[in-house]
Amino acid sequence: MRTQVVIIGGGPSGLLLGQLLHKSGIDAVVLERRTREYVLTRIRAGVLERGLVDLLEQAGAADRLHNESYTHDGTVFAVNNEHFGIPFSKYIDKPVTVYGQTELTRDLYDKRESVNAQTLFNVEDVVLNNVKSNAPSVECRVAEKTIRIDCDFIAGCDGSYGVSRHNIPAEVRNEFEKIYPFGWLGVLAETKPVHEELVYANSDRGFALCSMRNQNLSRYYVQCDANDNIDNWTDTQFWDELKRRIPDQFADTLDTGPSIEKSIAKLRSFVCEPMQWGRLFLCGDAAHIVPPTGAKGLNTAASDVHYLYNALHQWYSENDHTALDKYSETALKRVWKVQRFSWWMTSTLHRFPQYSEFDLRVQRAELEFLQQSEAAQASLALNYVGLPY
Ligand code: APR
Ligand code: PHB
Repeated sequence: MRTQVVIIGGGPSGLLLGQLLHKSGIDAVVLERRTREYVLTRIRAGVLERGLVDLLEQAGAADRLHNESYTHDGTVFAVNNEHFGIPFSKYIDKPVTVYGQTELTRDLYDKRESVNAQTLFNVEDVVLNNVKSNAPSVECRVAEKTIRIDCDFIAGCDGSYGVSRHNIPAEVRNEFEKIYPFGWLGVLAETKPVHEELVYANSDRGFALCSMRNQNLSRYYVQCDANDNIDNWTDTQFWDELKRRIPDQFADTLDTGPSIEKSIAKLRSFVCEPMQWGRLFLCGDAAHIVPPTGAKGLNTAASDVHYLYNALHQWYSENDHTALDKYSETALKRVWKVQRFSWWMTSTLHRFPQYSEFDLRVQRAELEFLQQSEAAQASLALNYVGLPY
């Protein structure tokens, strides 16, 4: 079997890259370890930067998004019972779009199937060969058969537990990691969102976030112990704790209901350098992870895809490998700025068990400065709506 680009991973990164390549007449095969149905069970953040929406439009997969999504011009920060708004539109005319990642992934799968682009599911034992040569290949097992796919390039879009990253030799690979001493307990409920914008809350009891998917589907989070278990939390205990962490104005009007999804996510920051090795290029979670506080996981996967797609398009259309040679350097410049922002949001909004009284006062001063300073709010707005590609 032969193709131009083998894409390992059928999550948002791989699907978006595959669709952009298809639109440019570049053939790509997506190898996905799971089934489409399994991939679509994953619940992830739902705040899209303008750059991602533009890429989805370019990929021809934005129709439902435009019909069902919401645009937000700002967000709310709360400190115990006080809250203040940060009007993004006052500082930059670039609203964010609220649309579930699951729906975005569904749209990309539907689009891929509509153009009969090839996706292999239930793929096992993926092995990358000759990535440092001009003739790499990928071997894998599908339906009990071993197949080899010869290609020009391999895109490692297989997430943080994939195989791609490990094909960069250990002596070359530099991994940076920061583990946070807490997790997020998330609940999805068919209830009316408590506010028309997201509410990020720093309370003495810990962080909370009020988000949404649509007017009848809300998404809430409370900070919990890193090793907590959802069996420790009934729905009532969750709603009661959430109400204790958000201002009374929101707690008093909170629409509670049975959780239709409840899960705990651990928080960490991670970056792998470099993001390329020979003809292998890493995109998205395969190369980096952010704590979800800044809603940057999917959006940073999108900027990687933007850089890699344009570099591959330049190679195939102009036989020019300049952008490909600089992919890792280019992508990492933005990756690290997003890592900083995600770390800052997490450090400013969460209750760290090891924080001293001094640390707590510094954290409060940070939030007070954000409330009072237009410069601080402008900086947050520029980062939150999405740094330029
Ligand atoms: N072979 C084939 N597919 C694999 C392999 C493998 N060896 N290992 C992992 N995969 C698949 C996973 O099943 C998953 O569907 O790769 C896909 C990777 O998708 P994601 O983990 O969603 O990563 P990415 O596409 O980069 O999207 C990043 O998704 O997980 C969220 O928070 C993350 O919002 C971010 C976004
Ligand atoms: C979500 O809606 O799941 C969400 C929104 C914003 C975040 C994190 C998660 O910062």
